[in-house]
Amino acid sequence: MTDLYRLVRPLLFCLEPETAHRLTLAALKTGMVQSPASNDDPALRMDLWGLAFPNPIGLAAGFDKNAEVADAMLALGFGFAETGTVTLRAQPGNPRPRIFRFPQAGAMINRLGFNNDGLEVFTQRLENRRTLGKHGIVGANIGPNRDSADPVADCAAMAGRVAALADYIVVNVSSPNTPGLRALQDKAPLRTLLNAVLGARKAAGAQTPLLLKIAPDLTPGDRQDIAEIALETGIDGLIATNTTITRPPAVEGSKANETGGLSGRPLFPLSTEVLADMYRLTQGRLPIIGVGGIAGGADAYAKIRAGASLLQLYTALIYKGPGLIARITRELSQRLHADGFSHLSEAVGADVDLTSN
Ligand SMILES: Cc1cc2nc3c(=O)[nH]c(=O)nc-3n(C[C@H](O)[C@H](O)[C@H](O)COP(=O)(O)O)c2cc1C
Repeated sequence: MTDLYRLVRPLLFCLEPETAHRLTLAALKTGMVQSPASNDDPALRMDLWGLAFPNPIGLAAGFDKNAEVADAMLALGFGFAETGTVTLRAQPGNPRPRIFRFPQAGAMINRLGFNNDGLEVFTQRLENRRTLGKHGIVGANIGPNRDSADPVADCAAMAGRVAALADYIVVNVSSPNTPGLRALQDKAPLRTLLNAVLGARKAAGAQTPLLLKIAPDLTPGDRQDIAEIALETGIDGLIATNTTITRPPAVEGSKANETGGLSGRPLFPLSTEVLADMYRLTQGRLPIIGVGGIAGGADAYAKIRAGASLLQLYTALIYKGPGLIARITRELSQRLHADGFSHLSEAVGADVDLTSN
């Protein structure tokens, strides 16, 4: 698969990024893109929230915004796949171009702005896969429409709808591409939002795990507030992190000034630092999915040691292809065993001093 992708990649990279993505989704939907059966090391199996993750490497949100290829991605070896971000009503997103590649830096900038087909189509697809008896862990990432008059009510309504159809729900308040969205990470609005979503989940009679996805660009005070609210409201976990509005030096050239969120390798240090900080601030009591710049086994292992119980990636998949998933799981288990751990859960947070301030 890695070799095949080496041939395909130059063709895809001749195309405008969104055209390449549309083609990739079309190929995935045919079921023709497959990986050899994965042989996950039992030491990498994670049991969390009553779910058995066959391995800790998940597909990050944004690749499958409309829940079209989650099962195809699981078949490539991902341990779980997150669909969305979906909004209540379909919306076109920002004008194009809105995705920019930085191959040298292993990075991308995007300002898509939650382009998606809306909740109706999304839930229909999740229902279909349930009807077909598809297994595999699929999460639903929700966010408000750009023109939403009441983002809290919209998120609550969406959570109620997806609760019975997804294995976990993510409230995304950290995209830099929807004006005002990240203000929902502030203490009082966040408390209101999370309580409303938890209320909707309860009203739906479900216990689907609820996670909050946070930005990497949070001040120490913001992080403290989020940790407090996460523990107070009783949500089930965090995802750290979304893309950054900062521009680390590795991202050069005229396109570096494009507005949007930066993902990929240059995001790794910042997102890992936020991850470790959230692990410390929540005293390891809340499972965290670590995401941002993972491009190999060493990165994956560093995120685990910084406090992640599960991992996700997106950008490295574009640059390295689906063979990356098996490579990361293989390297991760080698590193784990070399350090004397018998299971991944033992390494979670190994680098974080829970007693420091
Ligand atoms: C093109 C693109 C679209 C994205 N769309 C979403 C999205 O809809 N919702 C979301 O929560 N994150 C979205 N993300 C952020 C990713 O899920 C992830 O948090 C981020 O890219 C960092 O991981 P990476 O460095 O492995 O790409 C998107 C990222 C990219 C590159």
